[in-house]
Amino acid sequence: MLSREDNEYLTRTGPGAPMGNFMRRFWMPFMLSDEIAEPDCPPVRVTLLGEDLLAFRDSKGRAALVDQFCPHRRVSLFFGRNEDCGIRCVYHGWKFDADGNCVDMPSEPADSTYKDKVKLKSYPVREKAGIVWAYMGPVDKQSDLPELEWMNVPDDHLYVSRWIQQCNFVQAVEGEIDSAHVSFLHRKLENDAQNKAALTGAFFANDTAPKWKVTESDFGMTLGARRKVENGRFYWRMNQWLYPFYTMIAPVPGEARTVRMWVPVDDGRCNIICISYRNDKPLSEQELHNWQTGAAGHAARIPGTLTPIANLDNDYNIDRELQAAESFTGITGIRAQDAAMTESPGRIVDRSQEHLATSDTAIIQMRKLLIDGARNLEKGIEPAAAQDGAIYRVRSHSVVIDEEIDFDDRADILEDMRVTAGVGTQAAE
Ligand code: FES
Ligand SMILES: [Fe+2]
Repeated sequence: MLSREDNEYLTRTGPGAPMGNFMRRFWMPFMLSDEIAEPDCPPVRVTLLGEDLLAFRDSKGRAALVDQFCPHRRVSLFFGRNEDCGIRCVYHGWKFDADGNCVDMPSEPADSTYKDKVKLKSYPVREKAGIVWAYMGPVDKQSDLPELEWMNVPDDHLYVSRWIQQCNFVQAVEGEIDSAHVSFLHRKLENDAQNKAALTGAFFANDTAPKWKVTESDFGMTLGARRKVENGRFYWRMNQWLYPFYTMIAPVPGEARTVRMWVPVDDGRCNIICISYRNDKPLSEQELHNWQTGAAGHAARIPGTLTPIANLDNDYNIDRELQAAESFTGITGIRAQDAAMTESPGRIVDRSQEHLATSDTAIIQMRKLLIDGARNLEKGIEPAAAQDGAIYRVRSHSVVIDEEIDFDDRADILEDMRVTAGVGTQAAE
């Protein structure tokens, strides 16, 4: 459990909040490039860390993230005209470029210099791997983007999607790193042989009480799970949590890797940007179909929205007959099952009411790392991970070994989790 004070400290990310200041040291992925696909396309409202903003792509193709509200009389620039390298407010015609400079003020006398004194808030923006990122912190603390393996894989090796979840980002991440739920929440009932298999196949079927090992690193932490498999061997899966909101999920051998980013929209919602990628070959039609339909990994959305089809308002389309006969939850789709659990306590769960158990080790650790990070920043100690993108050269991993030893006692396994050839390595694994 956490005290009410610590729970507030952990979950509040708006301007001026200690956790908000901590988050603002990191680059924020916030939308997909194809949401502002063309130069001068319609602008898109974005709320990020509790700030109401507007994204647009100017005539030269540059992506921009600015205050949503015009500095003149604070009307929404969403209604503005995106034209000639700037967004023009339709109320009185003031126009701003991607850096927030006022470049035209046609409602003032021609000799007025007032436009040189008016600025629209704007944040530095970068694009990488089909994702748009913003930096919202102090100018002198801005560093490079995190160096993540999937950033430079070919387009046909990568699938990206985004949706919004109705809860605080910490709560959503806690669901992702909650290792104990897999054997229950995602269980199928219809086939007893698979009954114990939380997700799929023999790697999970024989051992539903894995041994857990959590190790801390400069990027955050690695969560190892060891299951016994056939012939007395051991199956290790290593997932990562990386500052401040990345999760990397180990693939079943031969399958694509998954990375998720759980980015605060505001304190009661988070943006989930989900990546699936392979190093070895292009994604298959079947993989893409499974992700696009929400059958695996990604959420199926109501067309034209960021809302999953199965959501809090429709009880995730729970089917009680299905629950009685076929699946543990009666909810179809792993993402929907997870969301039902992490959204159901309310947007910010009251952590002072919890009764944590041994299976919550990673969750306790992540809370501590986030709170310690924000407290250190209050003392003037900058987060190292925000300052050095190379810290993120790491990947999830799974492996079957003969010896009954911990994953971090094997140098070769630790080596396999490092992205040694740099970002975008195409090395076969
Ligand atoms: S409110 Fe935008 S130009 Fe007047
Ligand atoms: Fe899950």
